[in-house]
Amino acid sequence: MRRMVAETRLDPADLILPAFVREGVSEPVPIGAMPGVVQHTRDTLRRAAVEALEAGVSGIMLFGVPEDEKKDGLGTAGTDPEGILQVAIRDVRAEVGDELVIMSDLCLDEYTDHGHCGVLDEDGRVDNDATLERYAEMAQVQADAGVHVVGPSGMMDGQVGVIRDALDTIGKEDVSVLAYTAKYSSAFYGPFREAVGSSLKGDRKTYQQDPANLRESLRELALDLEEGADMVMVKPAGPYLDVLAKVAEAVDVPVAAYQISGEYAMVEAAAEKGWIDREKAILETLTGIRRAGGRMILTYWATEAARMLAAGR
Ligand code: PBG
Repeated sequence: MRRMVAETRLDPADLILPAFVREGVSEPVPIGAMPGVVQHTRDTLRRAAVEALEAGVSGIMLFGVPEDEKKDGLGTAGTDPEGILQVAIRDVRAEVGDELVIMSDLCLDEYTDHGHCGVLDEDGRVDNDATLERYAEMAQVQADAGVHVVGPSGMMDGQVGVIRDALDTIGKEDVSVLAYTAKYSSAFYGPFREAVGSSLKGDRKTYQQDPANLRESLRELALDLEEGADMVMVKPAGPYLDVLAKVAEAVDVPVAAYQISGEYAMVEAAAEKGWIDREKAILETLTGIRRAGGRMILTYWATEAARMLAAGR
């Protein structure tokens, strides 16, 4: 009866797997604060994409981790056609074609030696408009590599419009933009910084949003839609379900939610201590996000959760 009348159902197709690929490694590198998640080699990434596809997951979001000596002030590796992310996009596209939606993180932080999401001005502040030029170029090299959806996550003002124009200019009208509309300056990104070997000192408070604000997110939403966003995202997910619900109510484009590294780490750590039932907790967090209005859910558990759902748990 409970199953029959359930108001929310999770389906493997709701899930998108975020995955890290690291340049120059021959074995996958475990991420300490994210037990079960690794920095993939090019080979194991291809395998992970196939496994996700076979489990029924609908998409994969790729993050590149370049060799340390390739980082510089401009994040040059992020726009190098032979940069790790571009290479990985081509690999995955060759492996799964159009069966799995291939998405890419469009941000400079993995590639800059200072770790910020943009380039800096003479005073060491993030230079919004100079960064937009870098993002335009990034969008084009990622599209040329074969990505289906770009995910600008740097929270620069005007990024969606600039990226949309850059894609259209090179005839990539069919590449979609998933806007990180409401991306909060969150403590829960902690484990991710290890996952991408971030060089960041300081914080991102000048460009990410204040956790205290909701109306500000709705304003960001209006701007992103005006600039041509095809899909919008709220991130993190769990602590911001009210934001997610408001955004989902307000728009008619698909709404995504990103269950981030810290959300993952908390459940894994408590489960490891035997303090919660791991599988139940995983499905409960995902159901909550779906109930709040998340059409697509980015989660590091995507493949495993898809299998759990297929098994009827
Ligand atoms: C920025 C980016 C971040 C995440 C995704 N894209 C980190 C940040 O803003 O500091 C976080 C993802 C996670 O924590 O799982 N490129």
